[in-house]
Amino acid sequence: MDLRRAPRGMMLTLTAPAPAQQNRNMLPAAPATAKFTVERITALLKRTPTLINFRTTRDAAFRFTPGHYARLGLGEEGAEVWRPYSIASAADAPWLDFQFTLVPGGDFSGRFAQLREGDEIRVDARSFGFLTLDVLAPGGTVWMFSTGTGLAPFISILMTDALWQRHPRVVLLHSVRQGAELMPDFISSAMATRTVEERERFRYLPVVTREPVEGALSARISELMRNGELEKIAGEPIDAAHSRAMLCGNPEMIKEIRAMLKEREMGPSRRGVPGQLAAEGYW
Ligand SMILES: Cc1cc2nc3c(=O)[nH]c(=O)nc-3n(C[C@H](O)[C@H](O)[C@H](O)COP(=O)(O)OP(=O)(O)OC[C@H]3O[C@@H](n4cnc5c(N)ncnc54)[C@H](O)[C@@H]3O)c2cc1C
Ligand SMILES: NC(=O)c1ccc[n+]([C@@H]2O[C@H](COP(=O)([O-])OP(=O)(O)OC[C@H]3O[C@@H](n4cnc5c(N)ncnc54)[C@H](OP(=O)(O)O)[C@@H]3O)[C@@H](O)[C@H]2O)c1
Repeated sequence: MDLRRAPRGMMLTLTAPAPAQQNRNMLPAAPATAKFTVERITALLKRTPTLINFRTTRDAAFRFTPGHYARLGLGEEGAEVWRPYSIASAADAPWLDFQFTLVPGGDFSGRFAQLREGDEIRVDARSFGFLTLDVLAPGGTVWMFSTGTGLAPFISILMTDALWQRHPRVVLLHSVRQGAELMPDFISSAMATRTVEERERFRYLPVVTREPVEGALSARISELMRNGELEKIAGEPIDAAHSRAMLCGNPEMIKEIRAMLKEREMGPSRRGVPGQLAAEGYW
């Protein structure tokens, strides 16, 4: 099945590569002492000209904590380009899911744009990152602030038992320019892994800033925070006593929200003591 022609909203399914594609973009096998593995792209869905979802095989020894990113590598041996990409799949899934924004003129983006299902990609053997639940103090509503593909780590975190065991409520904000960049299918399949009771504790707030979309908020999330709209929607204050915040995506959004949270006494973990805030900027 060609997922690039699949209708919007269709779930990614793991498919075997077509035989004709087996020899496209073959990378040299990883050496025995490898710091990376060579994986195969098993599904690739172009949602818009600049937004791609893809799935790779996963080495049995690869471990990550939900919220972590993987380092992916493309290019000829000796001239590889490596970049970090947040993992959007569950920690125990036998595959790795990613959400990719093609950056015009970008070194990795240019190489990635050539890839098709069945092609190979290097995955660093380690995973990385600080956007994880263990840096947050238990309790309080978890507010997930995301822009663009900054949604990805939250999909993985939503599928984690610890989130629902440690925190009474979860609000996921996802801000994109155009409606076609929302990825509600990722959210519904993540939440389908949860119990009815956990689903009742979850709120998804899509935000579309450059066209009107029914059911979506239209102001930037920093503005919704500043003008009190988020607290009004949730019916509770956003402060250190009631809330935890996780931020991912556009660094300007992170800077603005972080400053507002600081005024509310919400800060990151320090010297191993969990805090109220965790953030990962993409550039
Ligand atoms: C921890 C971490 C996790 C990341 N996870 C993801 C992810 O899940 N999905 C994803 O698409 N990207 C993600 N990124 C960004 C990604 O690593 C690359 O920076 C991006 O794909 C551009 O690489 P490039 O080589 O094509 O462009 P480059 O030539 O390296 O960069 C060109 C410029 O584009 C800008 N830029 C970089 N990334 C973005 C972006 N996403 N949106 C807008 N402008 C950008 C920067 O100003 C950068 O200097 C992540 C970055 C970090 C630090
Ligand atoms: N998305 C596209 O249609 C598109 C098209 C061509 C190229 N690209 C490339 O992809 C890159 C990433 O685009 P993207 O749309 O994924 O990411 P983005 O530019 O970060 O925008 C994603 C969302 O974040 C919002 N945002 C931006 N700055 C913010 C801030 N300071 N506070 C709060 N919200 C903020 C945007 O609102 P605003 O709309 O108000 O900015 C938008 O809703 C671009 O830089 C470009 O290189 C994207």
